[in-house]
Amino acid sequence: MNKASARNMFIGATVIVSAIFLYMTVLSIKSFPARAHTGKITEEVAWGKKVWEKHACIDCHTLLGEGAYYAPELSNVIKRRGEDYVRVVLETTAVQGWGATRRMPQFDLSKKDINSLVEFFKWMGKIETSNWPPNIEG
Ligand code: HEC
Repeated sequence: MNKASARNMFIGATVIVSAIFLYMTVLSIKSFPARAHTGKITEEVAWGKKVWEKHACIDCHTLLGEGAYYAPELSNVIKRRGEDYVRVVLETTAVQGWGATRRMPQFDLSKKDINSLVEFFKWMGKIETSNWPPNIEG
């Protein structure tokens, strides 16, 4: 192989691989709205996110694997525990003692805040993450 054909092969391969990379990037970006189902963010879901931020739930919990590792992952909590259980947790005081050493604080959340958090968790649970985070147990 002479110098010119080596150069041509390098340029050709670079162009082809870059085109494939670009095509796959566009495919990924196009799939994001459907995967994140952003069209389904209702006012309640948005309010639930505000309540989540106001009380800094992320200081102890994770969502989609991001956050603190003191308490359980919550993006899949509706699927793992069911809506009724989540409501009980949010309504119940910490002093009632479920859990051996770690306790969930009582935030005195209003009915509206609890309903919105539940809607927020339902919405989170439907994001298509290709099973990320993996191996989460109850
Ligand atoms: C100081 C740390 C801390 C903060 C802040 C906190 N939690 Fe928790 N949470 C916990 C712990 C610890 C548990 C596990 C309790 C147990 O299993 O006995 C828990 C459990 C839960 C559960 C049940 C999860 C499961 O899989 O059983 C939900 C739902 C929940 N928290 C929601 C929230 C929400 C919403 C907020 C913010 C309003 C919040 N938490 C803030 C510590 C915290």
